[in-house]
Amino acid sequence: MSATQVVFLAGDGIGPEVTEAARRVLEAADVAIDWIEKPLGLGAFEACGNALPEETVAAIKACGVALKGPSTTPIGGGHVSANVRLRQELSLFANVRPVKTVPGLETSHGAIDLVIVRENTEDLYAGLEHEIAPGVVTSIKVITEVASRKISEFAFDYATRWGRSAVTAVHKANIMKKADGLFLDCAQRAADRSTAAGGSVSFNDVLVDALCMQLVTDPSRFDVLLLENLYGDIVSDLAAGLIGGLGLAPGGNYGDDCAVFEAIHGSAPDIAGQGIANPIAMILSGAMMCHHLGRPDAYTRIRRGVASVTRGDRAVLTPDLGGKGSTTSLADAIIEGVRAQPALA
Ligand code: NAI
Repeated sequence: MSATQVVFLAGDGIGPEVTEAARRVLEAADVAIDWIEKPLGLGAFEACGNALPEETVAAIKACGVALKGPSTTPIGGGHVSANVRLRQELSLFANVRPVKTVPGLETSHGAIDLVIVRENTEDLYAGLEHEIAPGVVTSIKVITEVASRKISEFAFDYATRWGRSAVTAVHKANIMKKADGLFLDCAQRAADRSTAAGGSVSFNDVLVDALCMQLVTDPSRFDVLLLENLYGDIVSDLAAGLIGGLGLAPGGNYGDDCAVFEAIHGSAPDIAGQGIANPIAMILSGAMMCHHLGRPDAYTRIRRGVASVTRGDRAVLTPDLGGKGSTTSLADAIIEGVRAQPALA
C-alpha cells in the first residue's frame, strides 16, 4: 500500500511531545504515512515573523490532511491566533469534537457519549475589534446564513452517517435575537431538510446557559450538540472536564477540501517540556484522521489499544489521570496495546 502524505504540525508547548506520541501510535497501527513537517504557531512566528507561514498553508492544501499540535497565542496582544487563521484560510468550517467516556476512566458524571459540532470560521472570532473611543471597545459577532446553514447541514449529515439519534442546537436567541436567531433558524431548516430526506435524527434546541447546567447534572440527555464558534469553544472544555480532562478529548476540523486533526487542548505551557503531557487526546485525534483517510480499521484498532491501557493499571497513566507515567511511557504502553489488537479487515 502506498504511503499517504500528511502534513505534520508539531506546534508549541506540549505540541511536539504529544504529536510525536500520536505519530508513533499511527505507525504501530500500520498506517503508512509520508509525514511532511511544517512550522506553525509561536515558534514559527519567532522564527520567521509569521505564525502561519504560506508554505504551511500550501502544504495542507496540497495534501488535504494535517495532524496538528496546539499552538500558543499571546493574550491581550501579539500575533493573531494561527488556529483561527488556519481554520479561516482553509475554510475548515466544521470542528467535530467527540466527548466519550474512556473505558476504565469512568467519572461520577456517568457514561458520556456526546459529539460537539462547532462552527469554526466566524462569530466573535472574525477579529473585528475596534476601540471606538478611549475606553470603549466593540467586538463584532458575525453570524451568516451561509456558514450557519453549512454547519447545520453538516451536523445532520454527520449524525445520520454515525447513527446518532438527536441534534441539539445551542444558542442565546433570547438575547441575540438576530444573530443567534439566524443560527437557530438555519438549524431548524437543516432539521426539516433531514426529515424530508427520510432521516430519523430528531431536533431540539437549548439556551447555552441552560445547557451548561444540564451538562453537569445529566449529560446523558444530549447526543450531538450544534454550536456557534464561541459557545462551541467553551462548551468543549466543559464537556472534556466531564470525561476526565483535556488530555482525553480529540477533535477534527473539516472543510470541503482539507481536514486538520488536533486535540481540543492548548499548548499547556505550565507542563511543557516536562514529559508528562497526556498524549491520549492527540492519539485519538490521530485515530479520527485514520477514519477520514479511509482506514476505519486503524481507527478502531487505535481506540481499542487505548482502551486496553486505560482499563488496566492506573500507574501507567500520566499525572493528570492520577498516574506516574510519562508521555513516552504511556505512548509505549498504547503502542503495545495497539499491536496486541488483531488487525481488522
Ligand atoms: P491548555 O489547554 O493549554 O491548558 C489548560 C490546563 O489543562 C493546563 O493546566 C494544562 O496543563 C492542562 N492540559 C492541557 N492539555 C493537557 C494534556 N494533554 N495533558 C495534561 N494536561 C493538559 O489551555 P490554556 O492554558 O488556556 O492555553 C495555553 C495556550 O494554548 C494558549 O496560548 C492558548 O491560546 C493555546 N490554545 C491552543 C489551542 C490550539 O492550538 N488548538 C487550543 C486551546 C488553547
